[in-house]
Amino acid sequence: MSQVPEVLPASNDPCWCGSGRKYKRCHKGTEGRIQPGNISPMRTVPATIGAPPYAATGVVPRLEEGRVKSPEIIERMRIAGAAAREILFEAGQIVRPGITTDEIDIFVHDLTIKMGGYPSPLNYHNYPKSVCTSVNEVICHGIPDDRVLEDGDIINLDVTIYLNGVHGDTNGSFGVGNITNGDKELIRVTEECMWYGIEAVKPGVAINEIGRAIETHAKKHKFGVVRAFIGHGIGENFHTDIQVLHYYDPRNTMILREGMTFTIEPMITASGEWRHKMWDDDWTAVTADGSRTAQFEHTMVVTDTGVDVLTAGPGAVSPSAPWSR
Ligand code: MF3
Ligand code: CO
Ligand code: CO
Repeated sequence: MSQVPEVLPASNDPCWCGSGRKYKRCHKGTEGRIQPGNISPMRTVPATIGAPPYAATGVVPRLEEGRVKSPEIIERMRIAGAAAREILFEAGQIVRPGITTDEIDIFVHDLTIKMGGYPSPLNYHNYPKSVCTSVNEVICHGIPDDRVLEDGDIINLDVTIYLNGVHGDTNGSFGVGNITNGDKELIRVTEECMWYGIEAVKPGVAINEIGRAIETHAKKHKFGVVRAFIGHGIGENFHTDIQVLHYYDPRNTMILREGMTFTIEPMITASGEWRHKMWDDDWTAVTADGSRTAQFEHTMVVTDTGVDVLTAGPGAVSPSAPWSR
């Protein structure tokens, strides 16, 4: 593809790329958007690492598991959660202008194995990489490739480890070099949205209180809540049947019970857009209007009095105002 010119053609003039098609039928609206890069071959995991059942085939069986977990499973999930948290923290440290998302994938892949775990995304429904890297208008499930991060980008890293037979799933958004105040606000408010959702979690409460809390806070800032991707039950399966909507739906009335484990992972857009489009790779989801978007995620368990965040580490349980740090 040729360089994007400084002055763009009129809608009905030939496209700047040389395709011979009208500009409006070709590159109009794609300038400044993320383009798919080259994806390197799939990496392997040593046979000594305990792998989930889909690792070899890409086919995901549904293992039988209840919504309410035993204390023994919760203890294993706490260990997987702590490992996921550490990997996300370390991966966040290497985000800088000039690094490729493929290099971040190598880092996450190798660190996950070093910690004795399997990178859950790898070959999950044939997903080709060990982490999701979602840049700018990419909402989620961005595939690491040879695109170099640029100063001013924002990126979400979504890390999941399979350790001792259970998954721990957490993600966070990071600025690359110097980012705008608008992007800083988007990232800050998105993290706040996640925490407001977490603080709504208590036994006996309907699950749609989570979405209500998130949507209320996003709207206060005129931001949008992506609808198509939701939080999920988690445990021995990467995704179980619990559905955690990040917006308010009166029909979503399942009652939270002690021992339930799930994620909260709101995707918030700067423009207020909630619709998404898919790239041809069938993984990468982008905002319909090209607006930037951020995401944060934790895995948690409902306790007798509230919630315990398994991917947040000690002292971070239901903080009243984590964003005031
Ligand atoms: N970690 C993502 C989530 O929060 C799921 C990624 S699935 C993958 O649910 F296949 F894209 F890795
Ligand atoms: Co995730
Ligand atoms: Co998740």
